[in-house]
Amino acid sequence: MTKLVAISGSLRKASYNTALMRAAIAMAPDGVTIVEGTIRGIPLYDGDEEKAHGIPAAAATLKELVAEADGVMLFTPEYNNAIPGVFKNALDWMTRPSADIPRIFSGKPFAITGASPGNFGTLLSQEAWLPIMRTLGTRPWFGTKLMVSKAGSVFDEHGKIVDEATEKRLRTFVEGFASFVQESRK
Ligand code: FNR
Repeated sequence: MTKLVAISGSLRKASYNTALMRAAIAMAPDGVTIVEGTIRGIPLYDGDEEKAHGIPAAAATLKELVAEADGVMLFTPEYNNAIPGVFKNALDWMTRPSADIPRIFSGKPFAITGASPGNFGTLLSQEAWLPIMRTLGTRPWFGTKLMVSKAGSVFDEHGKIVDEATEKRLRTFVEGFASFVQESRK
């Protein structure tokens, strides 16, 4: 069984990115499970806190999920043409080394997508993640680009995808990444 972890970079209850992530989770192909990781509860990074108490529980939980997973999928919102601070902050905590889990992202297959109500569907935010994921030594999958634009008309009020074309593109994205991860494990 291949295990992937999916993480949304939004704390909003009605988040388009969380809705996209949950739709992706529901599309996991046979032989693949996708677990939901959350950035909720992760405090702002503080080196003094880290020195005194180590990695906070919420960050440690997410870090463990990533360490155990065969691949990671990020669902990123875009703020001011860049990465939301809460999402980057979560990653920063998770990349702090610890004796038991040293470099969790090293060699880890990784895919990125995102949704926004605007016209460009998180294009710049996704691009902004790339140098970070390169620094962390991930194994990026660039099989297909998925920028979900005009998200207000893609999801209904329950977060269900109502746009058939987006649903199809998301399925291609999930299946493509899952195959890449399975190939990487051989
Ligand atoms: C935004 N939003 C936004 N959208 C976009 O496409 N490009 C952008 O540069 C920005 N900038 C921006 C800055 C800030 C501070 C906020 C709060 C919002 C709109 C953003 O895409 C929208 O709020 C989404 O709904 C956020 O994603 P979730 O929470 O729905 O997943």
